[in-house]
Amino acid sequence: MFKINENYLKLPGSYLFSTIAKKVAAYTEAHPKADIIRLGIGDVTQPIAPAILEAVHKATDEMGTSQGFHGYAPDLGYEFLRSVIAREDFQSRGCDISADEIFVSDGAKCDCGNIQEIFSLDNRVAVCDPVYPVYVDSNIMAGRGGVYDTVTERFSDIIYMPCTAENNFAPQLPEETPDLIYLCFPNNPTGSVLTKDQLQQWVDYANKNGAVILYDAAYEAYISEDNVPHSIYECQGARTCAIEFRSFSKNAGFTGMRLGFTVVPKDLKCGDVMLHTLWARRHGTKYNGAPYIIQKAGEAVYSPEGKAQLKEQVAYYMKNARVIYDGLKAAGYTVSGGVNSPYIWMKTPDGMSSWEFFDYLLERANVVGTPGSGFGPSGEGYFRLTAFGTYENTVRAVERVRGI
Ligand SMILES: Cc1ncc(COP(=O)(O)O)c(C=O)c1O
Repeated sequence: MFKINENYLKLPGSYLFSTIAKKVAAYTEAHPKADIIRLGIGDVTQPIAPAILEAVHKATDEMGTSQGFHGYAPDLGYEFLRSVIAREDFQSRGCDISADEIFVSDGAKCDCGNIQEIFSLDNRVAVCDPVYPVYVDSNIMAGRGGVYDTVTERFSDIIYMPCTAENNFAPQLPEETPDLIYLCFPNNPTGSVLTKDQLQQWVDYANKNGAVILYDAAYEAYISEDNVPHSIYECQGARTCAIEFRSFSKNAGFTGMRLGFTVVPKDLKCGDVMLHTLWARRHGTKYNGAPYIIQKAGEAVYSPEGKAQLKEQVAYYMKNARVIYDGLKAAGYTVSGGVNSPYIWMKTPDGMSSWEFFDYLLERANVVGTPGSGFGPSGEGYFRLTAFGTYENTVRAVERVRGI
């Protein structure tokens, strides 16, 4: 008789966004005429930029010719993409990262979820609370969670680092020493950032304690302030303690095209084993490469036209962020984020729980956001709104919220 991986049974409830979708579906069924505005899930709405679309068309045509046809992509991704990434995202910022330390994939979610496979099961994992759920859930599935406590809503073996208004939504160094530390900045869900000095402290801490930082920089393109690092490799010593995840989803609207990459520096070692070798082995065995057409589209992200068009796209979303931030603040809400991030993190009014506020907003304003408690117990009493809607809908949504 077969047996299942019982770790899956430890995962509490359903995935946050399925619960939201079910609630919205039930509401829509009961109120078919309701004009619902969704500022919940972090999906983009702007179309693919012209320079990128042109690259897609060109690569598609190439695929129909015998000279231009491409089959399986190289394991780590095409050299044309890896070298432009190394130059534009890292070397141009003074980061010592080379093309052969970049692993192209179909997005950051898979890489963030899969990276734990190359580490021993007895590693202690530290996460921010609230947190992008993938880091915790992937470790629970693997068996690193221990026992789930329904009262504290925490797993016994995970180290939670609360990010609250008191610490400006930036984690403190934990009391227990972790082996793997997940950090995501600009942060999803709180929209907070770490300054370069703050991130340097984490790098020093990881090097001192023999820990690895798994750094998710999916929202790097939204950074607007100078003292905020775009990559962890801007910090001294990060090559020996950090892996970085990047995504084309939010800087270039690739949520449906699927492209991302992970950086594993060759100096990152356990004894004399390079994590680079393990990840290359894993990537080669379990992954067969992002499509040529999409990697060509990714290359166009770095062309002068692509860069200019995407700068505008990010500015469009950041204008929405400003509308939400200013509008809610003027209405008396306590808000943060939204300056270096497309996420606005608001405190729920009158002591409402996150889910109470979700229902209240859905019913009274027909606006959908994301309950903060869905990202972890420290998110209770908070609510996330995203700037990824259209400008018109964002303005309407904020007017409605202000009107209730
Ligand atoms: C923090 C964070 N990392 C990774 C991802 C996933 O990115 P991708 O679309 O590249 O899989 C998201 C998506 O919302 C995210 O918020």
